[in-house]
Amino acid sequence: MANAQSILLISLGFLIPLFEFSVSSSDSIPDCPKTNTSVINFTSQFVMCQHQVRGSFTIINDCAFRVKDFDMIQGGSDVCWWGAAGDSYENLTSGFVISDDKLNTTTYKNDNFTVSLLSNVTWDDIKVVSVWKTSLESDFGHVVLEEKPEAPAPAPAPSDVNFTGSSVVRIDGEPTMFDNCKVLSDTYRLRWTVRPKNNVIDIGLEGAVDVRDYMAFGWADPFKENDHMLGADVAVTGFTEKGAPFVDDYHITKYSECTTNKNGKVEGVCPDTLYVDSDDAHDRDLVNNTMLVYGHRKDGVSFIRYQRPLKSIDKRYDWNIEYKKNMTCIWALGLIKPPDSIRPHYLPENHGKRYGHVQINVSENVNDCVGPLDTKNKQDQDLVIANEKEPLVVTSGPGLHYPNPPNPSKVLYINKKESPLLRVERGVPVKFSIQAGHNVAFYITSDPLGGNVTSRKQDETVYAGGPEAHGVKSKPKVLEWAPNRNTPDQVYYQSFYTQKMGWKVEVVDGGLTDMYNNSVLLDDQQVSFFWTISKKSISIAARGEKKSGYLAIAFGSKMVNSFAYVGWIDVNGKGHVKTYWIDGMNAQSLHPTDEHLTYVRCKSERGVITMEFTRDLDPNCNGDKKIECKNIVEPTSPLPVVWAMGAKWSSDHLTQSNMHSVTSSKPVRISLIYGSAEAEEDLKPVLAVHGFMMFLAWGIFFPGGILAARYMKHVNGDVWFKIHVYSQWSGLTITFLGILFAAAELRSLHTDLLHVKIGILTVILGCIQPVNAYLRPKKGDNGEEPLLRRIVWEYIHAYCGRSAVIVGIFAIFSGMKHLGDRYDDENARGLIWALVVWILVGVLTVLYFEYSQRRHLRQRFFGLGNWVLGDGEDEETDLLRADRIHGVHVEKLALPSERSEIQLEPLRS
Ligand SMILES: *[C@@H]1O[C@H](CO)[C@@H](O)[C@H](O)[C@H]1NC(C)=O
Ligand SMILES: *[C@@H]1O[C@H](CO)[C@@H](O)[C@H](O)[C@H]1NC(C)=O
Ligand SMILES: *[C@@H]1O[C@H](CO)[C@@H](O)[C@H](O)[C@H]1NC(C)=O
Ligand SMILES: *[C@@H]1O[C@H](CO)[C@@H](O)[C@H](O)[C@H]1NC(C)=O
Ligand SMILES: *[C@@H]1O[C@H](CO)[C@@H](O)[C@H](O)[C@H]1NC(C)=O
Ligand SMILES: *[C@@H]1O[C@H](CO)[C@@H](O)[C@H](O)[C@H]1NC(C)=O
Ligand SMILES: *[C@@H]1O[C@H](CO)[C@@H](O)[C@H](O)[C@H]1NC(C)=O
Ligand SMILES: *[C@@H]1O[C@H](CO)[C@@H](O)[C@H](O)[C@H]1NC(C)=O
Repeated sequence: MANAQSILLISLGFLIPLFEFSVSSSDSIPDCPKTNTSVINFTSQFVMCQHQVRGSFTIINDCAFRVKDFDMIQGGSDVCWWGAAGDSYENLTSGFVISDDKLNTTTYKNDNFTVSLLSNVTWDDIKVVSVWKTSLESDFGHVVLEEKPEAPAPAPAPSDVNFTGSSVVRIDGEPTMFDNCKVLSDTYRLRWTVRPKNNVIDIGLEGAVDVRDYMAFGWADPFKENDHMLGADVAVTGFTEKGAPFVDDYHITKYSECTTNKNGKVEGVCPDTLYVDSDDAHDRDLVNNTMLVYGHRKDGVSFIRYQRPLKSIDKRYDWNIEYKKNMTCIWALGLIKPPDSIRPHYLPENHGKRYGHVQINVSENVNDCVGPLDTKNKQDQDLVIANEKEPLVVTSGPGLHYPNPPNPSKVLYINKKESPLLRVERGVPVKFSIQAGHNVAFYITSDPLGGNVTSRKQDETVYAGGPEAHGVKSKPKVLEWAPNRNTPDQVYYQSFYTQKMGWKVEVVDGGLTDMYNNSVLLDDQQVSFFWTISKKSISIAARGEKKSGYLAIAFGSKMVNSFAYVGWIDVNGKGHVKTYWIDGMNAQSLHPTDEHLTYVRCKSERGVITMEFTRDLDPNCNGDKKIECKNIVEPTSPLPVVWAMGAKWSSDHLTQSNMHSVTSSKPVRISLIYGSAEAEEDLKPVLAVHGFMMFLAWGIFFPGGILAARYMKHVNGDVWFKIHVYSQWSGLTITFLGILFAAAELRSLHTDLLHVKIGILTVILGCIQPVNAYLRPKKGDNGEEPLLRRIVWEYIHAYCGRSAVIVGIFAIFSGMKHLGDRYDDENARGLIWALVVWILVGVLTVLYFEYSQRRHLRQRFFGLGNWVLGDGEDEETDLLRADRIHGVHVEKLALPSERSEIQLEPLRS
């Protein structure tokens, strides 16, 4: 009897839907015009845009449609059914309400319901049905009403395909929809559709996780009772740094990160492709059998769909899925470290406590996911925090991940980030450098959509900008905005003419800029550095402007041989700051120090890490020899600071995986007292030219000219004079050009630099020379005693010139030292030595000339020589020579003035 009853009940239950369906279709609203029967029974699935909308849609008659298994996170009171002529931005925004039914404030969980159209709307008017929030013009999800050709599918029919993992098998319907769903944890779900005919299983992994997290799922070794991870065949999925989804086939041989052991064998959690010979491309393709189908990141939820074969051709690293049997599957969530130059594959980090295993028979129908996956932190947009000093660069670019679709094709970018959330502080003026093109006028408004607000009959308050605020890269428009006490907590940056190009501005009270007296941006504008200096201590804050797992700043020109402060958030969400002394390039070279830090804070907000601490300027360890005692901050001298960011840090067991993924390319020197910073740059080529020119002038031309004047007087004609004059003028010209080059490159002359001081002295001495050469008094008539004035002049001229060269050489040395200090150039030392050698050669040459001259002098003095230095012309006789004894020409003592030929006897003999 009980049996009969239940059979009856079952059959009744079976009949009820049919009955209901026939009632609703036949007993439709009387005035429903039956014009368009072609769309009846049209069925499709919702395209997910926002609020995790899922479900299927069926037109049941001319004035109603049915929605089944509908999921949606609540969207506010103004969410309605919307009809449009197309799914483009323009067509959606010019759509209209099609039903009185509202998608009111509840969250929909696998709901089934029927919606009737407004009486003045027919299916002919509608090409797209959307779940629409009117106030924000948001499309939560939509279906496109177009009949898919039911005709025999063009060859090859999908049912014939035997999936091997080399190309994606076509899926019917939306990639977000599957036959089954299983809850793995409260933040992680597995969805799947199995098609044994095609030898394929479609797997959808859905996790309310951070965008930098991976989601892993796979099959454990079926011959193992425990230790499910060892030997498991898993897929690791996630998003690249650019936001593109990926999936990779992994195999686990050891509870460790993927490494190559001493025998060259790969072990750990590694991609299948790493186990095979890296040269064998065919082999690599054979083992790489997971195919990405689709992936997105919406409402703080990651979703990735991929396919893998049930029976894999890769027998080494993949397991066959016995789809009719219970099999053990394992899963994990955790941070992933992006590939770098050493390791070209993604490295899943330790999953903390987020892992588990589960028995799954994929052919069984399961749906225990109730409603959409929800998370508190829905906004994934990048965060840009305004800074008083650096203007925010406003540009426009393609809308790829606009937070509120649909959006125009072009949207606003700030600091190269697409429509980020902008945070400003009350009382801190914000500067925008607007270069988004002349057709994009930028403004700050109270209206969430912006753009031609009056045409929508809305009121708005404009806080800054307007029709004039437009510019291009070559001629940016600078706009200043000072949010004040009366600015609401949320306003919007938008384009004045086009809607939905910008996004939210968060206005907050006092942040780091308020708390610290000084701030600078470190290299690449990726890290902000804040500080306040007091008598004995310094308070420091650093904020990474990019999502990361840890942030490190170090005092030094590079990470190696510096003291680094690392701020990170542990698995329990607690922030830490620790100091290390780094003396090498690997994880073993990080030595934690016992530095005493106070007011330590570290927090992560949307992946942006901020750390704060206060320390003594001088650790003051009373003569202790500990390494941290050397970590002294000298406020008066510039402090070089570098930074690094990476995926994960821990207070112990640091490994290679904790190495940074991004780092500053150059140190920035911060003047703690003046609150300014200057980047340490590579030696600019122009400065190298400056150095070379100065060497040419002061190392060759000037000394050469002097040597010519001193040792070539015996050469016939006024050759020496010409050489002297030409080389001195050339030297002077080159010097001026060199100064111009350097000043133009650096845009100023920092007169507080030693090099610049010496340089100026050199130039002054150098410039005196042509002036005093011009003022040269006439020497006495030929054969007469030279005038005293002339002798004095010659002394001045010669000693001025010589000292100019000596000071010039010092200037070159100071320049090289500056080069070494400032640019950390390893070549500087070599160059200095080369210069020293050059000078030694010069000095030896001079000594040799002096020596041979003296010898000649002696010879001539004793009547052995037969020549005169100087040809008797008044310009050329050197009154300063050592051979003038008490103003009397030695030559004259030796010989009467006679002209003689060029004789370089000393060199010949
Ligand atoms: C719609 O489907 C129902 C049941 O499957 C069928 O009875 C009806 O004829 C179909 N209507 C049209 C217009 O195809
Ligand atoms: C959008 O609407 C315009 C007319 O307003 C039409 O020309 C265009 O084809 C439509 N686009 C789509 C994708 O339906
Ligand atoms: C929301 O809709 C449900 C059915 O869809 C209805 O029962 C409920 O009364 C509605 N609530 C409001 C506040 O409109
Ligand atoms: C909607 O219908 C499906 C079957 O089509 C059923 O599994 C599900 O429980 C229904 N949803 C609700 C909320 O009753
Ligand atoms: C349908 O009628 C409503 C008023 O009942 C009106 O607001 C709406 O604009 C009309 N829609 C169309 C497409 O005419
Ligand atoms: C598909 O290929 C796999 C392995 O290559 C094989 O084991 C399986 O029998 C094939 N399935 C069909 C339906 O041909
Ligand atoms: C596996 O194949 C996919 C698609 O063919 C490719 O994008 C991916 O880079 C491959 N993975 C490896 C590790 O070679
Ligand atoms: C398969 O696993 C489920 C639980 O996941 C269990 O209820 C069921 O009994 C298992 N079936 C077999 C044949 O082991």
